[in-house]
Amino acid sequence: MQTMATQPKTLFEQFLAPLFERLIDREALIRLRDSIDWPTQIDAFTDPQVVYPEYYTTSNFHGIPKGYLNIDAALTYDPITQYVLPPGETWVRGSLVQAVQGSPRRLLDLGCGTGSTTLMLKRRFPQAEVIGLDLSPPMLVMAAHKARVANLEVTFRHGNALATSFPDASFDGVCATLLFHETPPAVAKAILQESFRLLSPGGQVLILDGNQRTLRATDWLNTVFEEPFIRAYAQGNVDAWLGLAGFERVRTEDVFWLNQLSYGLKPRSVAEPTPTEPPQDWAEWENPYPGAGPLPQPA
Ligand SMILES: C[S@@+](CC[C@H](N)C(=O)[O-])C[C@H]1O[C@@H](n2cnc3c(N)ncnc32)[C@H](O)[C@@H]1O
Repeated sequence: MQTMATQPKTLFEQFLAPLFERLIDREALIRLRDSIDWPTQIDAFTDPQVVYPEYYTTSNFHGIPKGYLNIDAALTYDPITQYVLPPGETWVRGSLVQAVQGSPRRLLDLGCGTGSTTLMLKRRFPQAEVIGLDLSPPMLVMAAHKARVANLEVTFRHGNALATSFPDASFDGVCATLLFHETPPAVAKAILQESFRLLSPGGQVLILDGNQRTLRATDWLNTVFEEPFIRAYAQGNVDAWLGLAGFERVRTEDVFWLNQLSYGLKPRSVAEPTPTEPPQDWAEWENPYPGAGPLPQPA
């Protein structure tokens, strides 16, 4: 059996970790870490009823032991993520926010992590009740910290996207950003079924994640990022998963090169067909990366 000292370094440890270490402002991270009372906050965000699915507690995400259930993961997530969403994090996340239809009253962000998309949703729809749900208390602590700093009223909840405790038909929009490449495909499909249950008739589901076509064509990316389920995700098809869950008007669009946005609607009653209007205010969205071309347009 190999000892720790002789264990070969993973690609992440060899190449990406040292690179990110150079890009991260370590002093700022330490200041941020010390400004939060982690034990109290983690306690406040921990629901003892939550049962962690096996894939979540037994996998190493991004080479971090215990995946997301630790403070380091919560502290380093944002500084690293900004470098892995070309052409830019705000632009990529904005593709989802801008595709939300109409004026939703209640929005749910599943696997919200540190709340980056959740806060953008609240900024875009200030009148809406916006809720972020995640399995990781440390990630939720970070998300709540960001909301406080931004003076945004968002609710963050500890919970499992596979089986939330929210009532049927209680949201107009349910979304997930960068969640599905981190779950086994069977879990992603089950989360879509739960999303279907949570949506009111005519409600919208939106999934922003890695571009499955690109990931299939560039297998080295799957090795580099050390995501345990990314190859299985790449072989799948979110479009088909949405159809299986019962959604209609399903579409998937490229978001630049590395990401894709999929969306669909929960059918209204058979007698009342779904509306055909495009998302509102599409043209008003400011594209901070004009060099990357126009934002993906709705159908
Ligand atoms: C890659 S992060 C994405 C975070 C955030 N959505 C973003 O776009 O930055 C994946 C997140 O999904 C959460 N997660 C994974 N499985 C989950 C599940 N079954 N229910 C709720 N959250 C889950 C993890 O704790 C982690 O915070």
